[in-house]
Amino acid sequence: MAALVLFGGGGDLAMRMLLPSLYFLDHEGRLPEDLKIIGAARSEETADEYIEKVRTACESKARADDVWDEATWSRMKARLDYLAVDATSAESLKPLKDKVGDGDVTSFLAVSPSLYARIVTAMRAAGLAEANDRVVLEKPVGRDLDSFREIDDAVSDAFSESQVFRIDHYLGKETVQNLIALRFGNTVFEPLWNAQNIDHVEITIGETVGVGDRWPYYDEYGALRDMLQNHMLQLLCLVAMEPPSDLDPESVRNEKVKVLRSLRPITHEEAERVTVRGQYVGGIVDGETVKGYDEERGQPSDTETFVAIRADIDNWRWAGVPFFMRTGKRLPEKRTEIVIAFKPLPHSIFDGREGEPQANRMIIELQPEEDISLTVMNKKAGLDAQMQLQPIKMSLSWGFRDKTETPPRRRIAYERLLLDALNGDSTLFVRRDEAEQAWKWVDEVSQAWSDGNVKPQDYVAGTWGPDTADMLMARTGRDWNTIDVRD
Ligand code: BG6
Repeated sequence: MAALVLFGGGGDLAMRMLLPSLYFLDHEGRLPEDLKIIGAARSEETADEYIEKVRTACESKARADDVWDEATWSRMKARLDYLAVDATSAESLKPLKDKVGDGDVTSFLAVSPSLYARIVTAMRAAGLAEANDRVVLEKPVGRDLDSFREIDDAVSDAFSESQVFRIDHYLGKETVQNLIALRFGNTVFEPLWNAQNIDHVEITIGETVGVGDRWPYYDEYGALRDMLQNHMLQLLCLVAMEPPSDLDPESVRNEKVKVLRSLRPITHEEAERVTVRGQYVGGIVDGETVKGYDEERGQPSDTETFVAIRADIDNWRWAGVPFFMRTGKRLPEKRTEIVIAFKPLPHSIFDGREGEPQANRMIIELQPEEDISLTVMNKKAGLDAQMQLQPIKMSLSWGFRDKTETPPRRRIAYERLLLDALNGDSTLFVRRDEAEQAWKWVDEVSQAWSDGNVKPQDYVAGTWGPDTADMLMARTGRDWNTIDVRD
């Protein structure tokens, strides 16, 4: 028997993401026949009570996608069990070990990262860290390089690196994997993918939600540590990395680490020029009046809810190509996109006509839709004496191959990642040295902020951050992308 143990099995992540993902995988017949799923949490409840909650969580997600069926549920129900445990105590974990027996165990820690070190130590003592067992760690692991190392030292005392799966759920998103296919499964783009042809790259992760009652966590991390250290730097790595020799986990991750190592450190003299920290004040989002961060928190705070950074990658491929990243809460749209902005024409033969040529852009949209499009200039049809140009968008997305086809169900990113962890494939997980390099760079940014006394600037909820975020681009003669791939 194989087992998946969900520590924090009754919590928000498990109920909103992990268990519905497992339902969807079961629905498609992708879970191992004999897999048991065991919720383990502090709450003293019976297995039946727990299973009922799981049903509610799975049913609401599955019905929304029209894939709820009782047959799948009874298969999943038969897999489920629950145990009330104190996961930091080896003694308390013994009954869990008895339940899983000698089969391979994958343990998912969906609990506060501050407990990771104690939990893995207890797991080891309880026999839940045997050679075939695995552990999955949800981000953030630590809040800086030192605390990451402290936790990870405890993890590596219990598990070898090949048994550790550090999750960044952005790597489970379909379009992110499609980026690898696009870059390395085609010959047309790779020769253009460098400083000779690309002017700049933008990565935006905009969210309309505020921090709300997550502030006890968020206030300690801020946008820099919550989003940029992990999701944004992972996206940057996939855009910037060299072609790996194959898709082996080590080959891919070796290339990503090289990118992180090439990131130019941000000094405190530069911090004001190349970084922007913002915090939302009350405003209107999606037609509703919302509170500012300080009001939600109940007192003033210096935590940023918005960050924009210009990053430079000091290597041959990217010398002189700025990577602009921005992310924030309470922005006007939930939008995640990567924009590859190609260089303008070296010389235009269309000068003075209507429809000036615009530089080509590849827009890789992850949210709200998953799509990849390329803008190219095209002749407007007609008999005008002078040729008129217009930009058109070529969609490179599978979803648009045939507009009459129903697009595939939008998966939860955790579906792919849970399946990979159960199969022991760590390609889409973050290796220790990758996380360390990312923390190292982010620590330098936060050190530069504290040395330069850089405080968050206010932005009104429902806007794209402080004005200085636009200036970050404008100063270099560029603007944030406003082309919507779906127009
Ligand atoms: C999480 C962050 O990792 O990602 C959240 O902790 C954020 O603050 C979330 O809201 C965004 O994920 P997604 O998939 O909705 O873009």
